[in-house]
Amino acid sequence: MCGITARIGDDESLEDLLVSLKNLEYRGYDSAGIAVQNGTGIEINKCEGEVSELQAELSTADHDGPIGIGHTRWSTHGPPTDANAHPHTGCRGRVVAVHNGIIENYDVLREGLQARGHEFTSDTDTEVIPHLVEERLDAGFDAEAAFRDAIGELDGSYAIAMLIDGDPAVYATRNGSPLVVGVGEDANYLASDVPAFLEFTDRVVYLEDDDVAVITPDDYRITDATGSSVSRPVETVEWDPEDAEKGGYDHYMLKEIHEQPVALRQTIHGRIEGEDVILEDFPPGTFADVSRVQFIACGTSYHAGMYGEWLLSKWGIDANTFIASEYAAFPAPVDEETLVVGVTQSGETADTLEALKNARERGARTLALTNAIGSTAARTCDDALFIRAGPEIGVAATKTFSSQVATLVLLGERLVRDITGDPTDECRERLKALESLPEHVELVLDDSRAATISQRWLGDAGNFFIGRGNAYAVAREGALKFKEITYEHAEGFAAGELKHGPLALVTDETPVFAIGTGEHAKRLESNVREVQTRGAPVIAVAPRTATDLTDTADESLPVPATHPDLVAILANVQLQLIAYHAADELERSIDKPRNLAKSVTVE
Ligand code: AGP
Repeated sequence: MCGITARIGDDESLEDLLVSLKNLEYRGYDSAGIAVQNGTGIEINKCEGEVSELQAELSTADHDGPIGIGHTRWSTHGPPTDANAHPHTGCRGRVVAVHNGIIENYDVLREGLQARGHEFTSDTDTEVIPHLVEERLDAGFDAEAAFRDAIGELDGSYAIAMLIDGDPAVYATRNGSPLVVGVGEDANYLASDVPAFLEFTDRVVYLEDDDVAVITPDDYRITDATGSSVSRPVETVEWDPEDAEKGGYDHYMLKEIHEQPVALRQTIHGRIEGEDVILEDFPPGTFADVSRVQFIACGTSYHAGMYGEWLLSKWGIDANTFIASEYAAFPAPVDEETLVVGVTQSGETADTLEALKNARERGARTLALTNAIGSTAARTCDDALFIRAGPEIGVAATKTFSSQVATLVLLGERLVRDITGDPTDECRERLKALESLPEHVELVLDDSRAATISQRWLGDAGNFFIGRGNAYAVAREGALKFKEITYEHAEGFAAGELKHGPLALVTDETPVFAIGTGEHAKRLESNVREVQTRGAPVIAVAPRTATDLTDTADESLPVPATHPDLVAILANVQLQLIAYHAADELERSIDKPRNLAKSVTVE
């Protein structure tokens, strides 16, 4: 939710800033803006719309300078207008700031500032920040003291980058929103996320909450909440910058769907030996004290959690999944034997972080299952297990879902062995199937008829996805992906639930995608007949061997036959393609669907 970036060098910054902003657009695309020190003052350019619109306005050298900050916005306070676009300034334009997060007490601060004569030009919560700093500079504080004292007034979540006219530095801080320094050869960088500057440097320093960083062209200094100098490790990011580019595909989403075989190979690499699971930081016995598992997550990650719950329950472990945004307010019981797993691609989803904090404070053991190594979830949980899917830029999560579920299979195996002392039934076959999953996904991608089927069956009155067991999790995920990028109505149901209400919606204009894993096939076949009787066309997404289903359905999207616990991962790839091609046909903004952002860092 909002991307902030900065480039601090001796030469021109504009080009790098625009590259970084484009790389951060997945975090928000309601407006874009930059501010640079250009030798005569701070030049600000900002506008409603995407970075490309800002770029079109920036043709003269006046807009360039050695030190600059930038912002791409996902609106919270105030509509997406030019005036509400960041950066924001104080009354005299001397202090310029960009912000990600929400300042909860902004109204009180704003009233106080206005009473003291400050004039505001936007509806945003952010604008209080430069005014507060300006006031302190006027009172004689030095720049760092003014910044530190001003942020002491803020309640809420924030990552902030700030320029002061004539001061060759960027001042930055974070509290609950991510911020990372990029240590370069010719310049230093700052951003909400590493892909922003990955093509300029792979050496990064993750800031902690309440850190204040003062970044100059050839140095950076970090102090903690008390003002004491702190040393944060410089880490090297192993992601290839090319992974964060489109690589010839029309959309990141399509590229990332096609990256799933590679992502899955990375996920399982070195983690399976025969019937043994080797999870780097989790040797046998790690979870011997665990008696109950709770998955906490949002959106696609929630569906991965549902899949994990289904696996663990099947294997005899007490497991439940909770929507993170509900959990902190309505917490489930935990104790020291409860393992709470935050499933989060970004590791920065505010709802998930809040829920994990709640669980930790009540004595649970927490584990982040995430794609982002330096993320807040990875750093604040007791442990972190990485899905190793590589960067995902498209707002719609695709390859990370597959890698999350594959990681959950491995984690599940470790949990079962630690808790019960024995491997799961069929573990050898399942782990062999997991090793073959990348090739099976390749087969789906090579052969899919999703483009044709999505054109033929796009529903005027809704698009339904049904499944049982782990296929129910995938039915929900298929529907989420479909509605997220096509803007058409879609719902995922447990197949047996249709007759308890949703069947009333079914007509000959509601295609039903029925996901079959081969288990409980007769029951799913009955559910398919129930919707066909009401005229609905049914598309089976199942192995060819699931003939009960494929023979009954009107169309099929086949997937390779594999272990029934993993079939639904393959079916999900077909559903990703269905959503993609339907959205493409409808000419939707596939990588940046309206009203959404990839990383949701507000509650
Ligand atoms: C799905 O396509 C979305 N991008 C969204 O539901 C996402 O999965 C959710 O916001 C959770 O994000 P996280 O995995 O980064 O925590």
